[in-house]
Amino acid sequence: MKEALEQLRKKAQDELSAANSRDEILALRTKYLGRKGELTQILRQVKDIPPDERPAVGQLSNIIKESLSTAIDERLEEIDTAGRDDALSGERIDVTLPGRGIAYGKAHPITTVSREICDIFSVLGFSVVEGPEIEYDYYNFEALNIPKDHPARDMQDTFYVEDDIVLRTHTSPVQIRVMEKMKPPVRIICPGKVYRPDSDVSHTPMFHQIEGLLVDKGITFGDLKGTLTYFLEQVFGKGTILRFRPSFFPFTEPSAEVDIQCVMCRGDGCRVCGQSGWLEILGSGMVDPELYRTVGYDPEEVSGFAFGLGVERIAMLKYGISDIRLFYEGDQRFLKQF
Ligand code: PHE
Repeated sequence: MKEALEQLRKKAQDELSAANSRDEILALRTKYLGRKGELTQILRQVKDIPPDERPAVGQLSNIIKESLSTAIDERLEEIDTAGRDDALSGERIDVTLPGRGIAYGKAHPITTVSREICDIFSVLGFSVVEGPEIEYDYYNFEALNIPKDHPARDMQDTFYVEDDIVLRTHTSPVQIRVMEKMKPPVRIICPGKVYRPDSDVSHTPMFHQIEGLLVDKGITFGDLKGTLTYFLEQVFGKGTILRFRPSFFPFTEPSAEVDIQCVMCRGDGCRVCGQSGWLEILGSGMVDPELYRTVGYDPEEVSGFAFGLGVERIAMLKYGISDIRLFYEGDQRFLKQF
């Protein structure tokens, strides 16, 4: 019995020093000290040996059990420490390496140009107002003097959400919403997204417009010209040559389209201006008296002007970009330039 115990101690110690992983060591613990372990089995036979030998054998087996158990704990501890040291040396950080730098975000060029335009008008006392992008047919068309089935609707292809609800095709409906709510004088600028089912190098189904409206006593076409001339000089530089070209919009009378001399060829004619020497920049006009009646203003009392412009178009001319779709592809190489 004593011999069997000594042999077992030796075998267990050899296996323990050969074991190299936590799992192996834990397996040894089960193998020797577990409920069905080898030492446990031997201990069960103690009752079969002569009574006078029992105390000595019992003592020895207890000593072996304890020393084995301690040895196992120590090996586990060793393995854990070694693992930690390995991990630490493997993950060593070189604190002298230069940093990677954090990429920072900034405003999209369309947002920037839109803000610049709003800033110019803020200086002139206009307040910025926003309106819904999903709009009633009434505000987008009818209240702007474009009744159902009127040919003027063909000027703006439209996404319909429901029979009487559209994705707004321009920011002009905000004019009506504001005039319904407040008495003159009104001096507002309305930036925002608008939608039309068009797509090519100069059109995307969603684009941005800025609408302006000024209504007060005694406002004339001269005020319109002065305001828009000041504005375009701020954007394209002092001395920018403009022309006001008679046009038609159902909600203004008279109406004028405003062109600037081509920024690329300075009027000689090139691909950008279609050889005309001029670039169309915005639509404008004196608010049609019919709109005043719709919102409850007295057309004999007040007058005013409105204008609308495409932000992408201004941004394209300002930065010399020839394809509008570049703004919406999310390509960092393009966007980082602004
Ligand atoms: N809303 C017009 C458009 O989108 C532009 C415009 C606004 C024209 C205000 C005149 C006055 O085409």
